[in-house]
Formats: sequence, C-alpha cells, structure tokens
Amino acid sequence: MDNCIILAGGQGKRMKTNKPKVLLEVLGEPMLEWVIKACESAGIGNICVVKGYEGEQVEAYVSGRNGSADVQTVLQSERLGTGHAVMMAADYLKERIGGNTLILCGDAPFIDRETISGSLALHKKAGNAVTVVTSEIDEPKGYGRIIRTADGISGIVEEKDCTDEQRKIKEINSGCYWFDTKALLGVLGELKPNNAQKEYYLTDCISLLLSKGLKAGAFTSENKNVSLGANDRKGLLALNDIARLGVIDKWLDFGIEFTCTDGVSIGTQVEIGAGTVIDSNVKLSGKTKIGEGCRIMSGCLLNNTIVGNNTVLNFVQANDARVDDNVKIGPWVQLRPDSHVLSGAKIGDFVEIKNSTIGEGTAVAHLTYVGDSDVGSNVNFGCGVVTVNFDGEKKFRTTIGDNAFIGCNTNLVAPVKVGTSAYTAAGTTVTHDVPDGALAIDRGKQANIEGYATRKLKARNEKIAMQKKA
Ligand code: UD1
Ligand code: CA
Repeated sequence: MDNCIILAGGQGKRMKTNKPKVLLEVLGEPMLEWVIKACESAGIGNICVVKGYEGEQVEAYVSGRNGSADVQTVLQSERLGTGHAVMMAADYLKERIGGNTLILCGDAPFIDRETISGSLALHKKAGNAVTVVTSEIDEPKGYGRIIRTADGISGIVEEKDCTDEQRKIKEINSGCYWFDTKALLGVLGELKPNNAQKEYYLTDCISLLLSKGLKAGAFTSENKNVSLGANDRKGLLALNDIARLGVIDKWLDFGIEFTCTDGVSIGTQVEIGAGTVIDSNVKLSGKTKIGEGCRIMSGCLLNNTIVGNNTVLNFVQANDARVDDNVKIGPWVQLRPDSHVLSGAKIGDFVEIKNSTIGEGTAVAHLTYVGDSDVGSNVNFGCGVVTVNFDGEKKFRTTIGDNAFIGCNTNLVAPVKVGTSAYTAAGTTVTHDVPDGALAIDRGKQANIEGYATRKLKARNEKIAMQKKA
C-alpha cells in the first residue's frame, strides 16, 4: 500500500514564534494542511508526520483535523537531517513494505495532486527504486542540484557540497520523492553524516540505491512553485501572495469579476457562482459559498457563510450565517452565527443579527439589534429596534409575525411575541405578547409647558452678562 512521510521537524527560527514552522498559515490554513490535502487529493490514505520542534502542537493539529487520510505522527527528538527524520518512521514503513512511499516537506505547501500522481506513474513505469520530483528554476541557490545521466540520475548534490560547475545546474531537488518502500528501508541504515553539514542526508539514498544496481529517476514537475518554502516572515508573506493570486486566477477563469484585487483573499475551500463581482478588500474564508450574480462590495468578511444568487453585500461581516437570493445588506452590518436572512430581505446600516431568522421581504433598515428571534415575512423595522434577549442569566426568543410593523426605538423584551400584522408604537417597551392586528403602545401623555425653554434661555443669558461685568 502506498503511503506518505511528511517531514515536519522544523522550527523556523527566523519566524520568531514558538509555533512549529509547518503550522504557520498560508491563506488561513497551516502549511502542513496544504501538504496533507495534496496527498488526500492524490488518493494517499496513510500519512506519517515526523514532528520535532514543539511536536505536541503538530500532534494536536493532526489529531484534531477531519480528513480522509489516517494521519499518525512520530517524533524526531534531535534534528540530524532529512535522512535521520525518515529513519524515525522506519517502523511505520516496515508495516507497509509492499508499496511505495512518498516523502514530502511539510513546509513546502504548493505540492499538488498532478505532481504526486504524475511522478508515481513514472516511478512505477520506469521500475525505479527512487524517483525525485525536480523543478527547473532560475534561482537554484540553496537547493540540492540534480545530476542527470543518460538514462536517469546519478545523485543530488547539496548547495554546500557543490563544485562550481554543479552550482550552475538549474534543475533542483524539490524535496519530494517516491521510494520503493522496501528499497528505502534497505539503505536508510547505511546513511552516514559525511558532508559539509554533518547531517544524515536523505538524498544520499540515491547513490546507495544505484550502488545496489537499482534504478533512480527524476520527474520534472510543471508546477514552478512545488519546492517553495519560507524561511522568514517575508518569505511566508510571499507564499501567501502566491496562493492568494493563484486562487483569484482560478476564479477569473470561472467567470468571476474582480474590480480590483487589492486586499482580496479567498480561501481554497470557498465556492463562487459565475457572474458574481468582487470588489477590493474582501475576505472570504472557510466553507463560504456564494451564488451567481452577486456583488460582494469592499469591506466584506465572510466566513463559513452561504449566500444565494443576485444578493448584494456591502461592508458585511458574517460568520456561520446564511443569506438567500435577492437580498441587500449593508453597509456596516454584522451577521453572527446562525443568522438566516431569507429572499428579498433588506438589512441596512449598523444592524447586528444573531441566531435569528429574518423572513422574506422583511426590512431592517437602520441601527437595530435582532438576537434569538424568528421574524416573519414583510415585517418592517423602524430605526433603533432592540430585541432584549438576555436577562443577565438566560437568553430568550422573540417572535414577530408576518406583516408586522415595529416602530422606531421599540424594545422587545423576550420572551415575547408580536402577532401577525400587529404594530408597536415608536418608543414602546413591549413586555407581553401583542395579539394579531393590535397596536402595542406604552407612552405617558405628552405635556407641553408653555414658555419654559424661553425662560431658561433668558436666565442663562442674564447670568453670562453679569459675569462679564464683574
Ligand atoms: C532539502 C534537500 C535538498 C532540497 C531541499 C528542498 C536534503 C539533504 N536536502 O534541503 O536537496 O533541494 O530540501 O527544499 O534532504 N527536517 C526534519 N528533520 C531534520 C531536517 C529536516 O524534519 O532533521 C524537515 C524540515 O523541517 C523540512 C524538510 O525536512 O520540512 C527539509 O529540510 P530542510 O532543512 O529545509 O532541507 P534543506 O537543507 O533545505
Ligand atoms: Ca528547505
């Protein structure tokens, strides 16, 4: 059975964090997650992650994720090189001796399904004991160089061990390999740290396999980014930009219009329907799914949010929310978890909605809080309505029937029901249910005191005049 070993022992000192390097994020997902997902997409179901620096964090991450692969970890307690890291997984490999082993670097997030599958196909067809995934790059500095022969490769030379001639080679080792598992186990124990860095180099397996009469080959990946990693924060930002623009590129081909891509960040799991327009400064993350013909205007941050078709969102922050078709929301609106805005509704400025349903065609135009509420269709909210859902201990629900009219500055003290087509007068604090078709009003009678304000003003002006004289 084919399996994968992911090398993930690195600290990333120059990142200046106590996180293991593989848990640093690219487009909101740890680099390790990108690598595991690439394996899963290529159908590799068994993965062993070699952890090292802050290994518990790596362990906690992989045991907490939901994916199709079975991911285990082994510890490399001393960092003695890539060959040594693979030795830590020897027992894992012994249990899977009949197949091939893919080796990947956990800090090179752009490995892809085509490269994994394509290199495996070549590996099997050529009958190789090892197939190295290579990449032709303009700046090969720092990478191991591939030494080609007439019918394969004779080895990989690390930058620090290169002759001047070898240093000019532009075909580099991506750090990704397919090994025949049994052949790999046969040479791992023979690795020696005889090199400039005094490390056990995994790359030395190639000459060892060749010396046993086995075959070594190379697969040149079409993915120019396959070997890219990051050593510092600038490098990590560069990876983020590559990923970010890569996702935008894909959506452009799919018919999504971007008016300006500045500040636009779209997660890899997001889905967008054709004809949707996205403006600058928009972040779509998690399992957000947007329908067709929508406009997502500047300032929108949507996480795990489902949006229907032909909906317009302007400066909306939404988390775990749902918005149906032909809805207009914004500017400056927050949709908190479990909010559901139905078709044709309109939500205006400075509105917060939480754990509530807003019915079809309902308008919540300004300065309103709707929490823990079930609001019917074609309801009209005046300005400044508040559902009073919390008594300091418990939360309660508010129910509003279809066609109701909630006057400005109404407080709806939950638990409470406003009936179908009922009204609440402006400024009313509703503390008990309003029957269908009724008006709730709780106001004292207004009294006007004639001349009061004029007298006040006169007294004040006289006082100021006295002070000036004195
Ligand atoms: C390695 C390759 C080099 C290749 C490059 C691609 C060797 C000897 N060299 O070099 O040919 O071009 O990758 O990026 O393999 N790791 C451990 N434990 C260790 C050492 C490394 O887990 O003891 C992990 C790192 O965290 C990283 C990966 O292995 O994920 C590669 O290690 P790194 O130090 O980056 O290897 P390079 O020296 O860059
Ligand atoms: Ca490296």
